[in-house]
Amino acid sequence: MDINSLKLIYFSPTQTTKKIIEGIAQGIQIAAIEHVDLTPPDAGMRALTEMHDGLVIIGAPVYVGRLPTDMIRRFRRLKGNDTPAVIVVVYGNRAYEDALLELRDLALEAGFKPVAAGAFIGEHSLSTSAMPIAAGRPDEEDLGKAREFGKVIRKEIRNMQTIDGLMPLKVPGSFPYREPPAMPKISPVTQETVCIKCGRCALVCPTAAVTVRETVATEQSLCIRCCACVKNCPAEARVMEDPRIKQKTEQLFEDCRNRKEPETYLHPRQRGLSTSRSILTE
Ligand SMILES: Cc1cc2nc3c(=O)[nH]c(=O)nc-3n(C[C@H](O)[C@H](O)[C@H](O)COP(=O)(O)O)c2cc1C
Repeated sequence: MDINSLKLIYFSPTQTTKKIIEGIAQGIQIAAIEHVDLTPPDAGMRALTEMHDGLVIIGAPVYVGRLPTDMIRRFRRLKGNDTPAVIVVVYGNRAYEDALLELRDLALEAGFKPVAAGAFIGEHSLSTSAMPIAAGRPDEEDLGKAREFGKVIRKEIRNMQTIDGLMPLKVPGSFPYREPPAMPKISPVTQETVCIKCGRCALVCPTAAVTVRETVATEQSLCIRCCACVKNCPAEARVMEDPRIKQKTEQLFEDCRNRKEPETYLHPRQRGLSTSRSILTE
């Protein structure tokens, strides 16, 4: 099969997912790349978009072992019409649990045909300089693996005659998906004496939860705790100061010290095999 265009579809408040799928795209080596960014709040209001040709890479971060609900809602405005897809989740070095399976099912439901899948690691949203969790990831090694994965996908697709009749790609995870624990309504706060009112926090918030006037207001019911506002604040005025989050961060820092590595999945070469291959760990 020949593929001439590539669409990158992603929800990525702190940009690690975006970096990974751009790395995969580099490896696939298709010049015509279009971005479909589901991160800004207005992505949920777009008209239904039909995809008809080329290849898509769909990327999402892992939130409590699942997909972010905003990502799911926004993604459902796309129709795949049998477009082949690479599906990718990015997680903060703890675990991705049912997120990749959920992404596969979401992609299938929207009419995409997953041909390859990956779980990569990105700096944890709660990582701080005092409590680093997968800090700086994806790093050069991760991006090298993303490019390598892209090259394998390119070869694999070239060798495919058709994607008609392709069995659903097997990925880890179980259904019914895990029920995420209810999240207490906690959001980052602004240290007003440090804040320079530049408005960057409001600009990067994927749910329009932040408003900057004389002071900075955060609508807790909208906040998804992605920490884009914290990571992008040039004055370091946005902080997570709730003791429950501090405790969670300490626990993650302790539990997630061991570096996890990317995992990737393709269809077995021989049809009918029941498991997918993990190509980077072969
Ligand atoms: C609400 C929330 C829940 C998260 N849950 C998990 C998780 O279950 N496992 C994990 O390893 N990382 C988890 N993370 C960390 C993110 O998956 C990780 O930081 C990811 O790289 C963020 O992607 P982005 O940079 O594209 O926004 C969570 C982050 C947030 C904000």
